[in-house]
Amino acid sequence: MFELAFLGAFFFSTVRLTSSQESGYRHSAVLDANGKYRMKWKFDDRTVTFELEVETTGYVGFGLSSNGAMALSDIVIGGVFNGRPYLQDYFADPSRKVHRDSDQSYRLEYGRENITHTVLAFSRDLSTCDPNDKEISASTVRVIWAYHEEDVGPSGPMYHGVNRGRKSLRLLNPGSSATAPPGAAYFDLQNAHVPVPSRDTTYWCQIFKIPEVKKKHHIIRIEPLIQRGHENLVHHILLYQCNSSLGESDLRVGHECFHPNMPDSFTTCETVVFAWAIGGEGFSYPSHVGLSIGTSIDPVFVLMEVHYDNPTLQQGLLDSSGLRLFYTPKLRQYDAGVIETGVWVSLYHMLPPGMQDYLSEGHCTRECLKESLEEEMPSGIRVFAVLLHAHLAGRAIRTRHFRDYEEMKPLAYDNEFDFNFQEFLPLSEERLLLPGDNLITECRYNTKDRANMTWGGLEHQG
Ligand SMILES: *[C@@H]1O[C@H](CO)[C@@H](O)[C@H](O)[C@H]1NC(C)=O
Ligand SMILES: *[C@@H]1O[C@H](CO)[C@@H](O)[C@H](O)[C@H]1NC(C)=O
Ligand SMILES: *[C@@H]1O[C@H](CO)[C@@H](O)[C@H](O)[C@H]1NC(C)=O
Repeated sequence: MFELAFLGAFFFSTVRLTSSQESGYRHSAVLDANGKYRMKWKFDDRTVTFELEVETTGYVGFGLSSNGAMALSDIVIGGVFNGRPYLQDYFADPSRKVHRDSDQSYRLEYGRENITHTVLAFSRDLSTCDPNDKEISASTVRVIWAYHEEDVGPSGPMYHGVNRGRKSLRLLNPGSSATAPPGAAYFDLQNAHVPVPSRDTTYWCQIFKIPEVKKKHHIIRIEPLIQRGHENLVHHILLYQCNSSLGESDLRVGHECFHPNMPDSFTTCETVVFAWAIGGEGFSYPSHVGLSIGTSIDPVFVLMEVHYDNPTLQQGLLDSSGLRLFYTPKLRQYDAGVIETGVWVSLYHMLPPGMQDYLSEGHCTRECLKESLEEEMPSGIRVFAVLLHAHLAGRAIRTRHFRDYEEMKPLAYDNEFDFNFQEFLPLSEERLLLPGDNLITECRYNTKDRANMTWGGLEHQG
């Protein structure tokens, strides 16, 4: 159990942000496993507009929920009947009964259907002041979805049956939906048939060598390569930079990490350069930033740490998952780096049992940031992405930012943290961190259902 905020940062001089080409729906997600329920959305400071495309000619249901359950969720249901689109705002009570909301906050924009699909677009304010609507914020939200082959009749929507599900998304901070540029060069860091033990949690480590590229290149995108069928087994993957004086003999030796018998070479790999976690997608660096490889100070050896989650204690699993790194010789303006803040993984971090809302804080003090930045980066660093990380009891995380004893906007927060959905969050505006600033990472935990103390450590029960 631990929490850390990994901050992607690059070295600062003057920066011009590239303007986004905002035309139409910028974001999209497929909500079901079969690609029958697709959603696009766009937003501004005040409103969000959704377009749903669903393979049904009946009704389409869409909702926002704090925990993924239907109870107490905010729901909108619509469709096209006799050529006319319709839409109603509903909410579910604690016993999951659906009621029409007296305050109709969702506005129908357009709707159409053909013999196979219904397309429905609607908008609403981010904040509606209606207690039956869920406020839309930068936090994670569980989007719930459903559809039916019949339209909504006079007695209301029929039960959707099995055509339903949920997906965690950050509607206002969805990450880049960018893909690698066509034809971009890449290399893979991939495990080969790791025997995953039949135990709850395993950390598997292996050192890889970055391919020799002769001159400076930038890594511009990193994607997970998860073995088919192992989507729930591979819980997260971290990549650390190791000491460059390691040799060929340190490669190809996979071993459990944090284990008394692990190779000494593992202990030279301390700096996290990339993190991916379950539910997340690939990460593209901003268009003016890349992770440098190929120069004498760049990583030569990296340790890939894969966290396997095997709660049903399956036996005989062999895993060959890893990461794909895309790189280019066309250098970008800035080099990326990583700064970590939070509570270090240790037994000294403990959570009492039976707590509804227990707060723990990790301080990155003024002295610490001063010392670490002053010499090499006196004009500070700019943070472009944050990874908020906690384990099972984690409910909310916030990184507060102070300068000269004044508090600024939090660097990042998630009030509805989802353990199963952790990835780099690109910041909508880059944040300057100066020597002498101060960061406080706050984590809120719920241990209501635990009888014993929760101790810090590398198992994820925390
Ligand atoms: C029906 O609409 C869907 C969604 O817009 C589209 O993908 C599909 O091609 C359409 N089918 C026909 C027969 O036009
Ligand atoms: C890397 O290893 C070499 C040889 O063991 C050592 O001299 C050097 O200090 C190490 N570098 C770092 C950054 O730890
Ligand atoms: C909690 O602690 C008690 C006393 O040490 C122990 O007997 C019990 O097995 C523990 N329960 C769990 C779930 O670890």
